[in-house]
This record gives sequence, structure tokens and C-alpha cells, in this order.
Amino acid sequence: MADATETPTKKLWDGRFTEATDAFVEVFTASVGFDQQMALQDIRGSIAHATMLQRADILSESELELILGGLDEIQQEIIENRFEWSVSLEDVHMNIESALTEKIGVVGKTLHTGRSRNDQVATDIRLYLRDQIDQISDLLTRLQQGILSLAENESETIMPGFTHLQVAQPVTFGHHLMAWYEMIERDYSRLLDCRKRVNVLPLGAAALAGTTYPINREMTAELLSFDSVARNSLDAVSDRDFAIEFCSWASILMMHMSRWSEEIVLWSSPQFGFIDLPDRFCTGSSIMPQKKNPDVPELVRGKTGRVYGSLTSLLTLMKSQPLAYNKDNQEDKEPLFDTVRTVSDCLTAFADMIPAMEPKRENMRLAATKGYATATDLADYLVNRGLPFRDAHDVVGKLVALAIEQNADLSELSIHQLRSCSDLIDSDVYDVLTLDGSVRARNHIGGTAPEMVRSAIAFAKAQLERRAAL
Ligand code: ARG
Repeated sequence: MADATETPTKKLWDGRFTEATDAFVEVFTASVGFDQQMALQDIRGSIAHATMLQRADILSESELELILGGLDEIQQEIIENRFEWSVSLEDVHMNIESALTEKIGVVGKTLHTGRSRNDQVATDIRLYLRDQIDQISDLLTRLQQGILSLAENESETIMPGFTHLQVAQPVTFGHHLMAWYEMIERDYSRLLDCRKRVNVLPLGAAALAGTTYPINREMTAELLSFDSVARNSLDAVSDRDFAIEFCSWASILMMHMSRWSEEIVLWSSPQFGFIDLPDRFCTGSSIMPQKKNPDVPELVRGKTGRVYGSLTSLLTLMKSQPLAYNKDNQEDKEPLFDTVRTVSDCLTAFADMIPAMEPKRENMRLAATKGYATATDLADYLVNRGLPFRDAHDVVGKLVALAIEQNADLSELSIHQLRSCSDLIDSDVYDVLTLDGSVRARNHIGGTAPEMVRSAIAFAKAQLERRAAL
């Protein structure tokens, strides 16, 4: 890319200026270093705008043909990395417009009729974000499929369920994975909702007040597959709430992924030993030969911070801005681009890694036998025999204390010991003290019983099939 030390270029807007831009200011105010990421959207927007201008008799057919031909060449140059970006042309919009005029001559200067960079940039960001949302939606689906493929084999696998990270009650590993699935399902539906508000056309708002040309905004919207036209020109060029909404969507997603990351990091440690992460998703230590570190989930956990940071940047950028466009808004792009990239990378990593996790089923079961995970089942057993729940809770609490004293599990206490706290207990109690009995008994919708996990998986699969058919 050219830098600011070149001889000053003639600006597209310098008619009233009497001196060249300060060299530092030129670099300071330029956005082409990052907004060139929206070059293809900028060209798409220009094609639609020019087409509309011609159909509204503002441009002639031959002018349109020249413009489309020039834009097509520029697009090829950009795709093939042959396009020369220039900082002195400030941004992606003016780089492309100048190149067009250089190629096709004076007709290139008609493209900007009835348009301003203010509605142009707002359109480009929306087109860019809509493209990215569609790709991210596909990644979410792939991740959900990955979770399902792992969960399918784990509907019977018993692990400890935790509250306060202390063993609470036994659950099935499939059930735990389906909790992750549900989080992503909500993220998916939130993203579709966000897309609706992104997919609105600003073009036609021009600088801020609209334009005097007989433009047809509905036509431009249709050419660019926007659902509707922004109803107010001042609002259309100035607000970036759609980008803020996307970043808050992304923050919620990353919050979910950081929770799974934490679980994966814990589970893959020797202390838990619940899963093995394939070597291809881990790295070693340059000093400790024995190490295999869960870098992927750790990085996802860490990257959550920058996504929250981008949301804060955009909220603060927009705060207190008077109508309409202000140059502040040029600062919207980097946090947005960074968020798109971070979220896409994290989803790609997890979509590949999660179905490849190898559960260590014996370790999970063993961990569930520790920590008196079936104590609630014993209380429920006493309630079924007529004891009020609070009293049952108390009896079982005493039995847990006895078991701790004996360094035994509840199921290892003799019937005599169990009856010492309540004569409602009979020898059939051992059925409810088993892990399998405990999970099987929770067989309502949303419960952890293997049959319910299987039906949750079937429900999810049908959901993804319906989505694919859309
Ligand atoms: N590069 C600018 C941006 O990203 C484009 C719009 C500039 N508009 C203006 N009036 N200076 O916001």
C-alpha cells in the first residue's frame, strides 16, 4: 500500500481547500487499511446503485455499461490481489471510485450521483455483516451437529453432575452435552433475529437528508436482497446499533463457549480425567516433556475477553453521538471485523474438536460414586414412604455424616446402619442408591434419564433437518 510520504494526491472532495492535507492527518484519518475488507460489498452496492440510476433514467444505458465493466475489472484486481490501495484516497469507497474514473474516464464520476459515502458505508457494513452472519449460522449448525454426534454415544454414560463444582447428583454425559446444544440453539435463534435488523437498506439516505434525484430505493433494496428500506435518512446514516447488537450476540455466544472451555480444561486434567483431547488439538511445553496442554479451549476462553471489549468499544463509540453521521463512526469497523473473525475462528475450532473428544467413561462413573451423589434419591425414597421432605432431608444428612465417618458410600452402609436413622428404610433402598437407578428415575422431559436424552437428541436432529430444508 502507498504511504503518506508520496506527493499529495488530488482528493475527490478538495474543491474548496487551499492547502494539501497534513501528512500525518492523512494517515490518521484514513480507513483503507481495514475497510478494504468490505471491497466486494462496496462494489456490489455500487452495481445496484448504478443499475437503479439507469432504470430511473438518471444514467444512460451506455453509461451503466461502462460503469459495470469498470467495476468488474476492479473486482477482479481486488480478488487477485493486484489492486493498488492508496492511503491518500482515504477509504475503500474513494479508492474504488478513483480507480473507476481512471479506467472509464468521466463517466466514472457519475456513479456517486444521489449517493454519499455516509449511506454508502452504512450499506457496505450491513452487506458485509449479513454475509458474515450467514457463514456464522452455518458454523453454529456444524457445531450443533458435532455435539449431537458425540451425545448420541453417551446417553447411558454416567458422570457426576455438579453444583458449586461439588458433586451434586449423577447425570448422564449425553445430558450434559445436550445442555451445550440448547445454549447454541438459543444463540442461533438470537442471530437470526439480529439478521432481520441488519438487513435494511440505508442507501438513498445520501449524506443525511435524502437526495433530490428521482431514485427508487425499493428497487435498490431488491437488487441487494435487503428486506426493507430504512424509513428515516438521518437514522439510516448514523446509527450502528445493528453492529452493537451483533457484538452483544457474540458476547453471549462467547460467554457460553467460555463455560464449555472451562469444563473441557477441567475434564482433560489428570485430576478429573473425564475426557481425552486428541493430540491434534493440544500443544506441548518447551520445558516439561510430560505436558499436553488444552490450548484450544484455553484460547477460546481467553478470546471471550476481546469480544466483550469490542462490544464495550462500540457502545462507547455510539454513546452521546448527535445526529447524523460523525467521523467517530469510522471506528465501528475494527471491533466489528475482529469480533466476526474471533467468533468464526472459535466456532470452527470447537466444531472440529468437540465431536473428537474421547470420553473416559470409567473415570466419570468412578467420580460419580464419590460425593454421595444419590443422597437426594434416598430422601425421595423416604418421602415416598410418607416422611415430609424436610424430615427426610435431615435423616439423610445424618446418614451422610455416618458414611463420611465410616469412609464409605451410602450404598456401602449396612441395612442395620441405614435403619438406625429411620425404620422406614427397607432392603429395597439399595435400588435407589445406585447411580443407574438415580438417573433412570428422572425420566420426564428435560430430565437426565438415558431414554429422555435419546428423545432430546431425536428432537434436536429433527430441528436441524427442518433448518436444512429452509
Ligand atoms: N471511511 C468513512 C467511514 O468509515 C466513510 C464515510 C465518510 N464520510 C464522511 N462524511 N467523511 O465512516
